[in-house]
Amino acid sequence: MIEVNDLDAQQFVDAIKHCSNYDFSEYSDKSLKRRIERILVENKVNLKGLILKMQRDSVFLEQTVKDVTVNTTELFRDPEVWHEIRQIILSKMDDKNSISVWHAGCSTGQEVYSLEILMNEMGLLDKAHIFASDLNTDVMEAALKGDYKYRFNLSYLQNFDNVLKENTYDFTVNKDVDYQKYFFIDTKNDKIVMHDFLRNKPIYKKIDLVHTDNLFNTKFDIILCRNVLIYFNLKLQNKVIDFFHSQLNENGFLILGKHESLLGYPENKFNKKGKFYQKKSI
Ligand SMILES: C[S@@+](CC[C@H](N)C(=O)[O-])C[C@H]1O[C@@H](n2cnc3c(N)ncnc32)[C@H](O)[C@@H]1O
Repeated sequence: MIEVNDLDAQQFVDAIKHCSNYDFSEYSDKSLKRRIERILVENKVNLKGLILKMQRDSVFLEQTVKDVTVNTTELFRDPEVWHEIRQIILSKMDDKNSISVWHAGCSTGQEVYSLEILMNEMGLLDKAHIFASDLNTDVMEAALKGDYKYRFNLSYLQNFDNVLKENTYDFTVNKDVDYQKYFFIDTKNDKIVMHDFLRNKPIYKKIDLVHTDNLFNTKFDIILCRNVLIYFNLKLQNKVIDFFHSQLNENGFLILGKHESLLGYPENKFNKKGKFYQKKSI
């Protein structure tokens, strides 16, 4: 069992910062240390060896950066949140000519597909502009492919049923949505494959939230940044939230993870709407 202490974590962060543009100095200590421990075990090296390898091999450094991040996600993750996204946010967007959405920290894309499916069911997808980003380019390649394991992901179908077929908010919605409308289930090859009209719509870009860049050159009506800020310390969380605030249209919505909130962030910038945050109009 390898244990990474504060000094080790600092040396790791400094080494990455020194030879790249990545900066993990404002990541939360606990999760970062756990990831470094895992990287050391998987690569069968000690910290000195790991740092040396990163300094000498830029491909290894990129891989290590990817290994630092946690990519867990699923289709319609936290189904109750999707009921509220429908009810509180999307159902009020019928009158808009266009809806621009940014998934910041999209991982392998299941969240992007979830919103696309929900918007399509509500007749909003055609006027949506969907943008998605992550630090890790491997996960975005997987997102673009939209091809997931079937056997490990039976929860996707349960979540789909919960959100689209067992809607407890609005009994007028279509409750007979066939999976095949959105993805192909190939049990023989153990795959769930998203249909092209969903795969081809989003624009994906590598964006490191630490640098607070918006490379999409547009403002957004909805920003989803779910289960990303938990890996940042409070200072970086507030910096990123400030940036999101500046990139939202007036009355635009910020959607965070189920267990995330704007604690400690100035209250005068957003109104709380259910689980979500709506940018106050000036
Ligand atoms: C746990 S996943 C969340 C995926 C999805 N939003 C969800 O809630 O299911 C966190 C994602 O944040 C990304 N991430 C971590 N640090 C980041 C950073 N500095 N900039 C952009 N993305 C980052 C990771 O690569 C990972 O894909």
